[in-house]
This record gives sequence, structure tokens and C-alpha cells, in this order.
Amino acid sequence: MESWVTRSVGETEEVAALLAKRLEHGGVLALYGDLGAGKTAFVRGLVASLCPECLPLVHSPTFAIVNEYAGKRCTVHHFDFYRLKDEDDLYSTGFFEALDGDGVVVTEWSERFPEVFPAGTLRLHFDVLPDGSRRLEV
Ligand SMILES: Nc1ncnc2c1ncn2[C@@H]1O[C@H](COP(=O)(O)OP(=O)(O)O)[C@@H](O)[C@H]1O
Ligand SMILES: [Mg+2]
Repeated sequence: MESWVTRSVGETEEVAALLAKRLEHGGVLALYGDLGAGKTAFVRGLVASLCPECLPLVHSPTFAIVNEYAGKRCTVHHFDFYRLKDEDDLYSTGFFEALDGDGVVVTEWSERFPEVFPAGTLRLHFDVLPDGSRRLEV
């Protein structure tokens, strides 16, 4: 297990840059944690490393369910499971196609459907600590 305590969005983005190095050839990253914990901030850091030209597009895909950032080197599929009712809903979102592709898949609210992730998924938990800092734990 690895963990970090971050005291700002910038520090969360630094952790994202570190983990991005493990995803340069694709991979799946499942994010867990409450509203406001820093998941979207983390994705911004991830995209800054993997496909910086897409950075302006990064926002929480809560309503759209998925955002796709197609960079020159890498495509990042950014999902948010918050509004999905059941696992069947996932099929129409392109989640399983994205898993079969060679890009990076990152999901917010992974706790909604924790069993849909393939072996080898990197699971990252966000906790807000009493002093307002965030603990990120792989
Ligand atoms: N250490 C930190 N890491 C990330 N965000 C932080 C941190 N400290 C405070 N914040 C604030 O928390 C909020 C995180 O928002 P966001 O990334 O959208 O959360 P989530 O996607 O988990 O709902 C932002 O307003 C950000 O400024
Ligand atoms: Mg979010």
C-alpha cells in the first residue's frame, strides 16, 4: 500500500503526475471518495501529464457520465459513475469498449460498481482529513 497526504490541489496533481508514469502505456485507475475529495482535481493532474493539450477540457463528467480526452500520445477516458442506476446502464456508456482499448480509463465514484474493474486496476482512495488535507491511498 502506498499513501500520500496532500495539502493543496497542486500537491494532489503532483501525486497524479507520479501515478501517470505507470499509465503511459494504458491502464485502468478506479477512484473512490466523497464529493469534493479531490477526484476531478486528480484527473486534471493526470491529463496534464498524459495529454496536456486536453487539459482545458477536463471537468467532472457527472452529467455526461464520460468525457474523452484524445491527446497526441494517449487517450484518457474519464468516467463518473455517480448518476448511473445499475450496472446495465454502464453498457451504453462505452465503459467496456474503453477497457478493451489501449488508452487510460479513470473513473470517479468507483464504489458504485466496484466489481466491474479488470485485474490490474489501480485503486485509489481519497479521504478528507480533519485538518482539510487529503489522504490518497493506493
Ligand atoms: N489537497 C487537496 N487536493 C484536492 N483538492 C483539494 C485539496 N484541498 C482542497 N481541495 C479542494 O477540494 C475540491 C475538490 O474538488 P473535486 O476535485 O471536484 O472533487 P471530487 O471530484 O472528488 O468531487 C476543490 O474545490 C479543491 O480546491
Ligand atoms: Mg468530481
